[in-house]
Amino acid sequence: MTEVQVRQVSYDFTGRTALLIGGTTGIGRATALAFARAGANLFVAGLGTAHGESLGQEIKAAGKTEYEFLEVDVRNADAMADLHARAFERFGRIDIAFNNAGMSSRAAPVQDVSEADFYQLIDVNLKGIFLGLKHQVPHMIERGGGAIVNTSSLFGVMGYATTAVYCASKWGVIGLTNSVALEVARKNIRINAIAPGSVMTPLLTDMFGSPQSARDTVLPVIPMGRISDPSEIAQLVLFLSSDAASFITGQAVIIDGGGFVAGADQL
Ligand SMILES: NC(=O)c1ccc[n+]([C@@H]2O[C@H](COP(=O)([O-])OP(=O)(O)OC[C@H]3O[C@@H](n4cnc5c(N)ncnc54)[C@H](O)[C@@H]3O)[C@@H](O)[C@H]2O)c1
Repeated sequence: MTEVQVRQVSYDFTGRTALLIGGTTGIGRATALAFARAGANLFVAGLGTAHGESLGQEIKAAGKTEYEFLEVDVRNADAMADLHARAFERFGRIDIAFNNAGMSSRAAPVQDVSEADFYQLIDVNLKGIFLGLKHQVPHMIERGGGAIVNTSSLFGVMGYATTAVYCASKWGVIGLTNSVALEVARKNIRINAIAPGSVMTPLLTDMFGSPQSARDTVLPVIPMGRISDPSEIAQLVLFLSSDAASFITGQAVIIDGGGFVAGADQL
């Protein structure tokens, strides 16, 4: 992987409040740190209390923003209702929601995927985002607006042999995003999806077995010649959540170092 210095763009989210679901590690954690640097107050959810606490320490050390963490499994509808009730009560209003929780699975042809594996991927990657939207949309309508970003994937706009159910879940995220964006287009609420290519996080290494195997598989089809850093995905989330994106809604923004246009499906 070619090391690059990723330049951080400055945003100002002072006085705004963001709810990040799936914010404990990887892309979500990088996004939480970027929002905190930009002055937003944060309510973070996800798996792993230790990760949530260490993120809180990092954010509190910077000293600028309020931070709260709750461990929540996005498959659990009651827990998701409770999370949103607590976040709304804690901050009075949520201006931004980032529905990012997701998981991958080991590569396998469809005949080797069990029904249990199918439901686990769909429940985490798709139902989790549906449950988030269900609570966030009425809250934002009542408060007069907001911005929501959902995490899809490059695998949400293409097929990939041996990853059919993950792809299906991520295509579903874009369907939810497009449709709900239209439902609220006149309510001052924008809803977009991000579709990252390969990002060096635990999820990618789980998918390909190891960091080296991930590199060997994906680097040949990334024109920019490197796997992205989570902080680069965070910058896209901040952009889509910001007033700089005031006329962008219902989009799935691919962020993949050029892989899709070069035909990453040639893998
Ligand atoms: N890493 C990549 O190459 C890549 C590419 C495209 C899309 N994505 C997507 O980005 C998102 C973040 O993944 P990442 O790469 O940062 O990996 P990650 O494993 O570091 O992060 C996953 C996050 O989701 C949370 N999560 C997982 N299952 C959960 C559950 N049942 N309930 C609540 N939270 C849960 C985890 O706690 C963590 O915060 C995922 O939706 C993933 O599908 C990742």
